[in-house]
Amino acid sequence: MPKPSPIELEFSRKYDLDHAQHYLHKHRDGLARRLSHWRDVQVARHALKLADEPNLVLDLPCGAGRFWPMLCEQPNRVILAADNSADMIATARAAQPPEVVARINSFRTSAFDIDLGANAVDCIFCIRLLHHIESAEHRVAVLREFHRVSRDSVIVSLWVDGNYKAWKRGRLEERRAAEGRATQNQNRFVVPRAVIEGEFRQAGFEIIGHLDFLPGYAMWRTYVLRKEA
Ligand SMILES: C[S@@+](CC[C@H](N)C(=O)[O-])C[C@H]1O[C@@H](n2cnc3c(N)ncnc32)[C@H](O)[C@@H]1O
Repeated sequence: MPKPSPIELEFSRKYDLDHAQHYLHKHRDGLARRLSHWRDVQVARHALKLADEPNLVLDLPCGAGRFWPMLCEQPNRVILAADNSADMIATARAAQPPEVVARINSFRTSAFDIDLGANAVDCIFCIRLLHHIESAEHRVAVLREFHRVSRDSVIVSLWVDGNYKAWKRGRLEERRAAEGRATQNQNRFVVPRAVIEGEFRQAGFEIIGHLDFLPGYAMWRTYVLRKEA
């Protein structure tokens, strides 16, 4: 039977060369963004520790490669990096330090249909993808694909509820609805913690731990998951 074509989401189409360049500079411009990137890296480093310092890691989606220098801090780590956008990968390879790029094996693939065999890596490192996926069915499809490809752990970040920023966002949407104004053209979504944690279990993962970007305030949460025995 022919394989069904992978799910393609609207937001995935925007990452052309212009957008890739914009994304690269976004995390480097200004003090606030540099601090935010610094905190992202700190959280990611801690998450890898919780996952027992996996040796073979797939960075998916790798975007402009902003986590590659941190992933390379472990001298023995083998790093695969993939993204749906060839322009993103090209931008990452051109922008990151040559000694880092030399250690990265990159390829284009979709998170819905990863071009690797079962149990191919120790850990999938997935930062800032799930918050773009509105439908539970699509999130579970990605998580099931991660379950197939990772032998052991998965690190994922997304926007969750139960913090000041999510509350504020919810209030703004309520006010817009009450005034009959359209909701913003959204391509980023907050998922209630109870919902995403149920989806992790549905896909066959247990939660090892989580790390918040700024506890009680920010929406970003990073979960460390392990395949259930
Ligand atoms: C917000 S960026 C995050 C990149 C990186 N993880 C980071 O935090 O800098 C989202 C990335 O997801 C990629 N992407 C979109 N749809 C995808 C899909 N179906 N499979 C894999 N990558 C996808 C985009 O090309 C883009 O590079």
